[in-house]
Amino acid sequence: MTRPLLSLEQAMTLGPVIPVLVIDRVDDAVPLARALLAGGVNTLEVTLRTPVAMDVIRLLAAEVPQAVILAGTITTPEQWEAAHHAGAHFGVSPGLTPRLLSALRSGSPMPLLPGVATASELMTAMDAGLHCFKFFPAQQAGGVGMLKAFHSPFPDALFCPTGGISPDNARTYLDLPNVACVGGSWLAPSAAVKAGQWDHITALAQAASTLMQPMQC
Ligand code: 3PG
Repeated sequence: MTRPLLSLEQAMTLGPVIPVLVIDRVDDAVPLARALLAGGVNTLEVTLRTPVAMDVIRLLAAEVPQAVILAGTITTPEQWEAAHHAGAHFGVSPGLTPRLLSALRSGSPMPLLPGVATASELMTAMDAGLHCFKFFPAQQAGGVGMLKAFHSPFPDALFCPTGGISPDNARTYLDLPNVACVGGSWLAPSAAVKAGQWDHITALAQAASTLMQPMQC
């Protein structure tokens, strides 16, 4: 198990883009992470969407200690606990269930970035003491306009919009005062990962890193 190096806010503001990774082969994990780091991207979301995801987290925690590892697609307290034990620094969830809320209230294994898409979900999560959120699915749930609308009633909420973000629209999100960073899968296209095109992935990461310097909380 690895201790968080940073607060969740600090992890969200290390760079403008957090890559959302779906890794099918354990052997791809270290070269992929190193390619992203070489492009200036240090915070990586490893989604729990493949059977090897926990092994990938374990391996990255051991082999690429400079990476900040977010375990993504956490939907249960059991996955949250397991990802923490595998070495993840933070958890990311597409939403927030009563069971995850209850686990949060009773002492979380590691900080969680839960997904919200409505004012009520945001209020429920804020009531549990949270102020950092994944806005998911960002484009489909109202995009930039929704985040602008959230800012006035919820000025303390800080977001990482994810879902439908691309190099074409990332900047419009990053310009918002309540956006710390964006998440997206475009930094690690599956064809490039399968083909081992690590230089290409480094170039994508470099381009993403220069999108904009994020705000500091
Ligand atoms: C996520 O899980 O955060 C999203 O599926 C990533 O969405 P994208 O593929 O549109 O970037």
